Amino acid sequence: MNETKSDVSLITARDDRPIILETQGLTRKFHQFTAVDRLDLTVSSGEIFGLLGPNGAGKSTVIKMLTTLLPPTAGRAKIAGFDIRGQAAQVRRQIGYVPQSLSADGTLTGYENLLIFAKLYDIPHRVQRVRIREALEFMGLQEAADRLVRTYSGGMIRRLEIAQAILHQPAVLFLDEPTVGLDPLARSVVWELVQQLRTNYGTTVFLTTHFMEEADSLCHRVAIMHQGSVIVMDTPDRLKASLAQANPTLDDVFIHYTGNPLESGGTYRDTSRLRRTTQRLG
Ligand SMILES: Nc1ncnc2c1ncn2[C@@H]1O[C@H](COP(=O)(O)OP(=O)(O)OP(=O)(O)O)[C@@H](O)[C@H]1O
Ligand SMILES: [Mg+2]
Repeated sequence: MNETKSDVSLITARDDRPIILETQGLTRKFHQFTAVDRLDLTVSSGEIFGLLGPNGAGKSTVIKMLTTLLPPTAGRAKIAGFDIRGQAAQVRRQIGYVPQSLSADGTLTGYENLLIFAKLYDIPHRVQRVRIREALEFMGLQEAADRLVRTYSGGMIRRLEIAQAILHQPAVLFLDEPTVGLDPLARSVVWELVQQLRTNYGTTVFLTTHFMEEADSLCHRVAIMHQGSVIVMDTPDRLKASLAQANPTLDDVFIHYTGNPLESGGTYRDTSRLRRTTQRLG
């Protein structure tokens, strides 16, 4: 499970690989409220990068800006050399996105859902069928391809959503809470698939999660956000080593930097949205 971590030692982005994602002063306000405040970060090609933080910290807002769905109020970001504001169409061709909310249609089969995405991504007609079969196989869904998605388990739906997001072979995959609502086994299957994507295709993965164990196991580097700002960013091992206590976990690091996450959680709206996300998969 730790294969992806063992070959890297990171403080900043890996200097032996090109930068694939960078932000400078990236900011998003909603009226007077600053949801994301001057975010500066770089991610290297092939890195698995985790954005952590309590409910309402601004994680999904960052992902929505990077996926060109939400315009920033200020600042810049580039993905694979393309500017998210001026070159949004080129950025979209480089990225895949699995949102926090449901992105598969329960009234269609897995195959039909993938066909919609193949058309959406303009995958040439002659290769659509092959790409869909490959994605189904990679995600271990070939047996279930012709079943309605509403009969799938939560883990299968998540795997289908990832299949949808990788059909066009994106350079960067954004996963917003990929394992919320999954049981431990389904969660570990998603972890392995994420690692295989990176190993087999060199995909860069930018994910958010509330599971510190997941971030520790999967991510080369993590950034901890709190109230719109990144307060610390480093490898999980270095972050743990920076605490003055014996055998700290990433949970300890999280609590150290954000305070008790239960007390610093977001609004009613955040909580009900999170619960809906959890229920949809449960
Ligand atoms: N469209 C919007 N209009 C107004 N406020 C918003 C909007 N979208 C997000 N916010 C606010 O911005 C803040 C950051 O929200 P965001 O969804 O990015 O947090 P998050 O870190 O993803 O939280 P969670 O862990 O609950 O998913 C929250 O306070 C949220 O209420
Ligand atoms: Mg979120």
